[in-house]
Amino acid sequence: MVRDIVIYPDKRLKQKSQEVTEFNEELHRLLDDMYETMVAKNGVGLAAIQIAVPKRVLIINVPIEEQDGAQPKENTLEIINPQFLEMSGKTKYQEGCLSVPGYYEDVERYKYVKLKYQDRHGKEHILEDDDFLAIALQHEYDHLEGKLFIEKLSIIKRKKFEKEWKKKGPKSKK
Ligand code: CO
Repeated sequence: MVRDIVIYPDKRLKQKSQEVTEFNEELHRLLDDMYETMVAKNGVGLAAIQIAVPKRVLIINVPIEEQDGAQPKENTLEIINPQFLEMSGKTKYQEGCLSVPGYYEDVERYKYVKLKYQDRHGKEHILEDDDFLAIALQHEYDHLEGKLFIEKLSIIKRKKFEKEWKKKGPKSKK
């Protein structure tokens, strides 16, 4: 089921998400709904808090360029209770967010990350990346901590954003 996306400046986005302890049917439904919602909104990643569920759950599905940007469900990375083990280097990438629709800006991130997480059955995995996935992981992880990418902008860019965002008004809340 496609769910509504929580849009900035909704206060729920500032909430810190809670650890998942039960890997049950409810969690699986949440993950399935997150995938449907992300695809319906043309996103590459989504954190549970973006559909108003404050749990430490995020998904990422990097579109396959050679297949017209397809995002098959089996390619979805389902990440529960993530913990960064290592982060290093620096990179910059133009980010966007389904909770801040229509706005894109360069954000500085770590180039390399190593992450420990659980899958939908509670099994532990370790994953590392130094490319697009590393950036997406950091962006989505921030949502679990109640942070948005616009908080990483310089003061000048942030002010400019707030001005533009206000001008756009409730129209952007789709
Ligand atoms: Co986001």
